[in-house]
Amino acid sequence: MWAALLPVGRGADGGYSRFTWTGPELDCRAWFLDEASRRDLEVERDANGNLFAWWLPPGGARSGAVLTGSHLDSVPGGGAFDGPLGVVSAFAALDALRAGGHVPARPIGVAAFAEEEGARFGVACLGSRLLAGAIAPERARGLRDGAGRTFADAAAANGLDPDALGPDEDLLSRVSCYVELHVEQGRALGVPVGVATSIVPHGRWRLDFTGEGNHAGTTLLPDRRDPMLPLATTILAARQAADRHATLATIGKLDVVPGGVNAIPSAVTAWLDARGPIDDAVRATVADIERDARAVAARHGVAVALAEESYTPVVDFPRGLRERLLAALPGAPVLPTGAGHDAGILASRIPTAMLFVRNPTGVSHAPAEHADHADALAGVRALTAVLADLTRD
Ligand code: GLV
Ligand code: MN
Ligand code: MN
Ligand code: MN
Repeated sequence: MWAALLPVGRGADGGYSRFTWTGPELDCRAWFLDEASRRDLEVERDANGNLFAWWLPPGGARSGAVLTGSHLDSVPGGGAFDGPLGVVSAFAALDALRAGGHVPARPIGVAAFAEEEGARFGVACLGSRLLAGAIAPERARGLRDGAGRTFADAAAANGLDPDALGPDEDLLSRVSCYVELHVEQGRALGVPVGVATSIVPHGRWRLDFTGEGNHAGTTLLPDRRDPMLPLATTILAARQAADRHATLATIGKLDVVPGGVNAIPSAVTAWLDARGPIDDAVRATVADIERDARAVAARHGVAVALAEESYTPVVDFPRGLRERLLAALPGAPVLPTGAGHDAGILASRIPTAMLFVRNPTGVSHAPAEHADHADALAGVRALTAVLADLTRD
């Protein structure tokens, strides 16, 4: 099962690029449907591009379902495990339950949520946000990819009705909880499997610097309104603000217009990712960066605008479900995470929990992300135990 997914979207450096509804991600979706049909699961495609495969209990009851899974899309050049490990482990856990003769008292669903990384349309966890009503459908429809294509247009091209995007109360009402297994994205986990306590506040902002395009060889320094200069200072200011507030701030994506070696740019866009354990500190970090960006931009005759693209406050996974996981996994450590997940978004509507599988490199969103085979198997065993417990009666 894992072997079939491994080559999909892998680049020469071993990094994966699986962007929503592009070739490799469509191949991942086809893989999901194939795995579902091999197991005789009932497939459901919701109105938001999320996929579900259901194992129904004898009698076919649909309510009280226990959902597990993760996502199949990736960041640009990401690791093999972020997302797919949760989906593959979900199918493997289902196989283990069946092999052990488990008869679920309620449905077990495997989910693959759409656009979790926001790598194509900019808002992370877009599929689960739409499902949960955490983003307005009008806003989602208007999100654009790097080529200017709207989410509505891409959704329509992939068989969805853009007017039907939005919360799915029927589906949510059928699900009693969601348990997502994920590769750990730092080095905090010293044993094969742990249980998540919380997701720190995090968000994305867009900074647009607008100056004046001109000739690199004929425009004297005093005559320039070069947006690259305030951006450079702002990148350093972001690091300083993060240091000051004990947060994290990253500028990992730029768009330079027009992008000529011999042209002063007319505009530069930078995307800021800011996170931290305390909401006010994250807000203060972004406020400082904006203040510094405005001051330096003014000195260079450049305009600057900052827009919030998404923000997710702290998510504390509900204690009841977490305790239930811990009872099924005696001795498992608990840990918070700085990474966002669909489980964090769905937590506003249904009880959610997460299992983390050790990552010996501590690297994620990069090719060196890793999980040892033995740890991945321990993750499947843990998920199997949790699903057995949650669907016993
Ligand atoms: C998604 O993985 C995120 O935390 O940005
Ligand atoms: Mn990720
Ligand atoms: Mn992920
Ligand atoms: Mn994530």
